[in-house]
Amino acid sequence: MNILILGGGGREHALAWATLQNPKCDKLIVAPGNAGIAAIAECASLDILNGSAVIGFAEENAIDLIIIGPEAPLAAGVADDLRAAGLIVFGPSRAAAQLEASKAFTKAICDAAGAPTAAYARFGEAAPARAYIAEKGAPIVVKADGLAAGKGVIVAMTEAEALEAIDDMFSGEFGEAGAEVVIEDFLTGEEASFFVLCDGETALPIGTAQDHKRAFDNDEGPNTGGMGAYSPAPVLSDAVVQKTMQQIIHPTLAEMARRGTPYQGILYAGLMIENGEPQLIEYNCRFGDPECQVLMMRLGAQALDLIQATAEGRLAEMQVNWAEDHAITVVMATRGYPGDYPKGSEIRGLEALPETSFEMCFHAGTRQERGSLLANGGRVLNATARGANLAEARDRAYAMIDAIDWPEGFCRRDIGWRVLG
Ligand code: AMP
Ligand code: GLY
Repeated sequence: MNILILGGGGREHALAWATLQNPKCDKLIVAPGNAGIAAIAECASLDILNGSAVIGFAEENAIDLIIIGPEAPLAAGVADDLRAAGLIVFGPSRAAAQLEASKAFTKAICDAAGAPTAAYARFGEAAPARAYIAEKGAPIVVKADGLAAGKGVIVAMTEAEALEAIDDMFSGEFGEAGAEVVIEDFLTGEEASFFVLCDGETALPIGTAQDHKRAFDNDEGPNTGGMGAYSPAPVLSDAVVQKTMQQIIHPTLAEMARRGTPYQGILYAGLMIENGEPQLIEYNCRFGDPECQVLMMRLGAQALDLIQATAEGRLAEMQVNWAEDHAITVVMATRGYPGDYPKGSEIRGLEALPETSFEMCFHAGTRQERGSLLANGGRVLNATARGANLAEARDRAYAMIDAIDWPEGFCRRDIGWRVLG
């Protein structure tokens, strides 16, 4: 089978790595890829937001399956274009990707599905939004409706912060994404991520994870796209997973199907769990990054079979073969991230790292230049490992980190603290 993966981050490196373990994969191309991906697969430069460009490329290269990594092509309708051209695609339609692309849409789906989520109101103008905040008080959460590169959510601990967020959003700081605003109640509890494959009818859970959003140890510093993750997440016990499926996932998928926009792809539910009761914080229509890295480390070669079955509508015949294992990924980022940071510093020492089914250093943002490996982004490397328990996985991941020679990089030293103490 010839496979094309769209994207070029740590998530796509992990997807490519798992795909290549499966003997079904004859040829793998990743567009655009990165320096780490180029070491294991062919990389192609391609405008992945342009459906006809991707169709042309897929036809030229006799591609049998296209896996879409990031949300931007999904929200732009690239999956629709590819399917209309008769290609087999993993990833939701533009209509179904609204579960990530519009917070107001997701709230309306939760209402219709009766799925537990924070109480909310939506506004297209500042004055009634300000009045609502004054009435509700703080803490309260203000969200830009659209995709805002992870920056459109303000968890306001004071009324003043919430009002400032309203001013920012309606003054256009978040562009189109902030033209509509959702204001919701502040939820307390423990956050976790839950990943479910859906082929439009059948839903199959493929793992749980917990992310570390703050930049520095002890959950200090600014919010980031994620500085590390581990799987499984103990707070998502079997009982909580069962409740989440019954109360949130199944009703959501049924409502999407009822509307004539069935969901196909990976559904990533961000949950808040308190006293064993899950509430939905948000949906994403893609794998988490870096959560995907730990899921792929645990699933290995079967990930491709599951993804293919999802794309072909055959999930009902599939099951996941779980090992009693744990995985962790530690993100190395350029100093300065998530604020401004320089690109182009040299990274050494990666050649000596182990590359086994228990440990891999995935590349999130790197490029090769004249024989040197250079940092090419904020989040740059993901030291990822698996073990019989989380402590073993952690020790393997940090042993990789310690062997990397990159003075311009930093990482958190406490990934997994909730479990490991
Ligand atoms: P989102 O982009 O919706 O995932 O929001 C980003 C982060 O904001 C989440 O991961 C939570 O930590 C936090 N958050 C979002 N909504 C709420 C809420 N209603 N209550 C408490 N925290 C929230
Ligand atoms: N790590 C969080 C996300 O991918 O949205």
